[in-house]
Amino acid sequence: MFNTPYLADADRYASMQYRRCGRSGLLLPAICFGVWQHFSHSDDYSKCRAMILRAFDRGVTHFDAANNYGGGDAEEILGRILREDLARYRDEILVSTKAGYTMWPGPYGDWGSRKYLLASLDQSLKRLGLDYVDIFYSHRPDPGTPLEETMGALASAVQSGKALYAGISNYPPDQTEQAAGILRAMGVPCLVNQSRYSMFHRIPEEGLIAKLDELGIGFVAFQPLAQGLLTNRYIDGIPTESRVATGKGSLKREQLNDATLTRLRALNEIAKDRRQSLAQLALAWALRDERVTSVLIGASSVAQLENSLDTLAAGPLSDGEIDRIEQVLS
Ligand SMILES: NC(=O)c1ccc[n+]([C@@H]2O[C@H](COP(=O)([O-])OP(=O)(O)OC[C@H]3O[C@@H](n4cnc5c(N)ncnc54)[C@H](OP(=O)(O)O)[C@@H]3O)[C@@H](O)[C@H]2O)c1
Repeated sequence: MFNTPYLADADRYASMQYRRCGRSGLLLPAICFGVWQHFSHSDDYSKCRAMILRAFDRGVTHFDAANNYGGGDAEEILGRILREDLARYRDEILVSTKAGYTMWPGPYGDWGSRKYLLASLDQSLKRLGLDYVDIFYSHRPDPGTPLEETMGALASAVQSGKALYAGISNYPPDQTEQAAGILRAMGVPCLVNQSRYSMFHRIPEEGLIAKLDELGIGFVAFQPLAQGLLTNRYIDGIPTESRVATGKGSLKREQLNDATLTRLRALNEIAKDRRQSLAQLALAWALRDERVTSVLIGASSVAQLENSLDTLAAGPLSDGEIDRIEQVLS
C-alpha cells in the first residue's frame, strides 16, 4: 500500500522532557519507545509505522530494539521505517540494539562472547539498514564468559564506529561496577544500564539506582507498565487482544489475582484524583526519581502511545501522592 510521504511535526520538541544520561553528553527523552512486542511481520505494518512516526512527532527520539525481538522482525520493520520515512531525521534519532539472548543455533548465537556480540551487531545493522547504532547493549551478563571479553566486544563496537555508545542490560550493581571499570580502562565509558523497574518490580531500588548514580551511568527503566498490568487494561476483565489473552510477552493470567486487582483499583483511584490514567500514574511514579533517565515503554496502538506520552502534561507526583501509592504497594 502506498504511504503518504512523512514530514515530522514542526513542534515535536515542544512538550517532551529530556534527561541527561548519567554524566554523559547525551540527553534521552524521559519516555522512550521499544519494539519488543507488536513489531513482527505478522503484525500490521501500517500500525507499526504509525506508532513510530507519532512517537517521533511527540519528541520520542530514542527507539529501542534487540537482535531477537520478533526473531529479527522488529529490527527489519524499524529499519524500513527509518529508511522510508525517517532517513532525513537520522541525526535526531537514537537507535539502540542488543545481543545476549538466543539468536541463532550453535555455540556462537547466544550469551556474551566476542564472537556472538560482534557478529550479531553486523546482522542488526543489516536488518536496520544503518551504518551504526547509537547504543549497543550486552543484553544480559554471561556467567560463562569473562566480563573482559564481553566488555571488550562492546568497546570494539564503539571503536569501530558501528556503535556510538556502550550499554549493559540486566546487570546487577556489582557486575555493573566491574563492567564500567573494564570499559573505562579501554577508553569507552559505560553509558547506560537498562533494567526492569516499575511499581511492581522495585529491585533496582535495592542498590542499582544508587550505584548507577555514583558511577555516572544512566538508567533506562524497561517495562514501567509491567507489560500492561499497571494500566486500565485488566481492571474490568481480560480484553481478547491483550497480552494476557494472546500469550504475547510473558505476562501470565495467574498474575491477575485478587490481591493484584485490588491494588490496581486502589492505584486507579489515585490516578483519577490526578485526572490521569493508571498508565500515566505508573510512568509518573517511575520518573519521580531524577536518577531514572527514561522509562522505556511499549504499546499496541497509537491511542495507548498517546495516552502514555500525555503523562508529562500533568506534572510530577506530590509527596502526598507518593505516600498514598506507597500505602497501596506496601
Ligand atoms: N532489556 C531487556 O531485557 C528488556 C526486556 C523487556 C523489554 N525491554 C524493552 O522495554 C520495552 C517495553 O517493554 P513492554 O512493552 O513489555 O513494557 P510496558 O510498557 O510495561 O508494557 C506495554 C504494554 O502495556 C499496554 N499499554 C501500554 N500503554 C498503555 C496505555 N497507555 N493504556 C493501556 N495499556 C497500555 C499494552 O499492552 P497490550 O499489548 O496488551 O495492548 C502494551 O503492549 C520493550 O519494547 C523493549 O524495548 C527490554
